[in-house]
Amino acid sequence: MYVCICNAVSEDDVHDCVSRGAHSVREVKRACGWRPGCGNCARRLAEVFSQAQASSGTESSAA
Ligand code: FES
Repeated sequence: MYVCICNAVSEDDVHDCVSRGAHSVREVKRACGWRPGCGNCARRLAEVFSQAQASSGTESSAA
């Protein structure tokens, strides 16, 4: 399922970024080549990022 339609970023993409070392939402965005869009995905991205961190056993800020 897509997290961000504007950037075609899926939940799997976010999980991959976290497993490869992204420690914040900002780092996930950088790793996925995120570009500014409508912004509707902000809350969903934070949720998926938190889930990815929980499942990978890492912890950090969601900023
Ligand atoms: S859905 Fe992510 S910027 Fe539009």
